[in-house]
Amino acid sequence: MITPHVIPYQGSKRKLADSILQYVDGVDIHTLYEPFAGSAAITLAAASQNLAKEYVLNDKFAPIMDLWELIINTPELASDRYESLWNCQIPLDDSVELLSHSYQHYMDVRKEFNQDLDPIKFLYLVARCVKNAIRFNSNGEFNQGPDKRRKGTAPKKMRTNILGASTVLKGKSRVYSQDFRDITAKATSNDLIYMDPPWQGTSTKKDTRYAFVLQIDELISEMEELNNRNVPYILSFDGVCGDRSYGKDLPDSLNLKKVMLDAGRSSQAILLGREDKTFESLYLSPALVQKIEPSLLIAV
Ligand SMILES: C[S@@+](CC[C@H](N)C(=O)[O-])C[C@H]1O[C@@H](n2cnc3c(N)ncnc32)[C@H](O)[C@@H]1O
Repeated sequence: MITPHVIPYQGSKRKLADSILQYVDGVDIHTLYEPFAGSAAITLAAASQNLAKEYVLNDKFAPIMDLWELIINTPELASDRYESLWNCQIPLDDSVELLSHSYQHYMDVRKEFNQDLDPIKFLYLVARCVKNAIRFNSNGEFNQGPDKRRKGTAPKKMRTNILGASTVLKGKSRVYSQDFRDITAKATSNDLIYMDPPWQGTSTKKDTRYAFVLQIDELISEMEELNNRNVPYILSFDGVCGDRSYGKDLPDSLNLKKVMLDAGRSSQAILLGREDKTFESLYLSPALVQKIEPSLLIAV
């Protein structure tokens, strides 16, 4: 089955989903937990291949999880609402200039969203904003501008994807908006946790890409706890682009297996016409490595 792709989220793991999920090939998974879900690329890919019996999606940013609740449980309503919001950006009257009308519509929706946190307004804003790259100001308000060359995912395509996501997740999934540790606390040795945390690297500047970022110590101590409980998990963490490496290695005491995934050319490299490739690192927990077919790890 083709994996439905609903929320066009910059930084989504959509393109890497198959490379990531190859490491759980043949592993029995009761519940797949995605505590930093965002666009839930790994959950969607796994559910499309029926890799787990149940799915738990969580993100601390509540509007995105309210959106998942609507997508999964009331997909027709979610699609209808997206369609009418999207259509409002096209002027009814031919004499009105499209660009200024649609710009004003976007700005009105953005202002309303910052007051009411309506999840469908969020979906429209993500689909329509510059490079699908959500940005927040220091007050936590969504402040990315509209992409002037695109109208955002067309309603028909959005409906197909929303219905597809609902089909693979309805009746099998639970949605939360909590701190990741409240979610990972529920996992057992029969489950799998996929983590893609927004670690802000070594910079002390605020990261405008996320409503929340994480302290590395919180993550490390949670992984120690998961190791003690023998819970299998996978962590996407840092990477290398050209000769630049970002992120830092995790403590040896966690006993993780590190593998590098080829993430292709970075968007920056494409813009500059350079050949730099990006590699993203993936860490496999000791409890997962024990369950993996050894031949899968030989090549890495
Ligand atoms: C790198 S993004 C995940 C992207 C995701 N893998 C995808 O495919 O779209 C990280 C997400 O973690 C969320 N987040 C940040 N701090 C969190 C916390 N303490 N607990 C749970 N979620 C958190 C952010 O809101 C953000 O959506």
